[in-house]
Amino acid sequence: MASEQKVLIGCIGGSGLYHLDNLTPVKKLDVNTPWGKPSSPITISSLPSGALIAFISRHGPSHTISPTEVPARANIAALKHLGCEAIVAFSAVGSLREEIAPGHFIIPDQIIDRTKGIREDTFFRGEGLVCHSMFGDPFSTQLNSVVGPVVREILKKEGVELHEGKTVVCMEGPAFSTRAESLMYRQWGGDIINMSVIPEAKLAREAELDYTLICTSTDYDAWRVGEAPVTVAEVVKTLHTNAAHSRAVAEGLLQKVHDHVAAGKLDQIKGSMQWSCVTAKD
Ligand code: ADE
Repeated sequence: MASEQKVLIGCIGGSGLYHLDNLTPVKKLDVNTPWGKPSSPITISSLPSGALIAFISRHGPSHTISPTEVPARANIAALKHLGCEAIVAFSAVGSLREEIAPGHFIIPDQIIDRTKGIREDTFFRGEGLVCHSMFGDPFSTQLNSVVGPVVREILKKEGVELHEGKTVVCMEGPAFSTRAESLMYRQWGGDIINMSVIPEAKLAREAELDYTLICTSTDYDAWRVGEAPVTVAEVVKTLHTNAAHSRAVAEGLLQKVHDHVAAGKLDQIKGSMQWSCVTAKD
């Protein structure tokens, strides 16, 4: 029976993507973790094959949780506890590059962290255990190499452009960037900007979960000379269309990711933390 299967894949929806109603819901879990409650109840849905997916809405079902307040440790811990081995996360982003237009999709492979260290970004603080996770490649390179070609194929049918191998700047917010900051991020090599990938990606790594981020561009941030800087109204304008495309991507992609994980083909992140703790064992 489908409900006895393992839930191998977690999916985290960002702004605009509050549910995956194109999948078949199986049950809703209202869970608690040592780090509190996740952002939303966890919806377990099944794919046509019977494979199960766990979905969390990052900002809550009605978007009441700001990026700074997302209980990322609870979200990651809950997915890990359910047995997930990989996470496919979605995020709305601003574009720092002319060629990345609103409506385009992006799969980044690097992060610049500008969240000022005020978010709870580790499971190890205050635990008497000092660990430094390997984070040079902040996204799972193995998972990205599976996800990239599949997402490209799905988006081709939808007539949507995909950019890969980009750098996402994660800022604190809640205010958007100034024009000077936006220009500086471009000089630093940033291609897109959001407020959510940190600490999610760091915590996924500590939990030894393969993590990929599928981004949807909503605006050109504030760097374009002669153009008004980004507003919420502008972001919201493209969220609806982007969410429809994200659901199509999730529907086509999650089975492929599930099959890959079930076949044991992701073998770099699992077990990696054993090399990351410096506290002596005695
Ligand atoms: N999310 C969507 N657009 C954004 C922007 N311009 N800056 C930060 N986060 C965003």
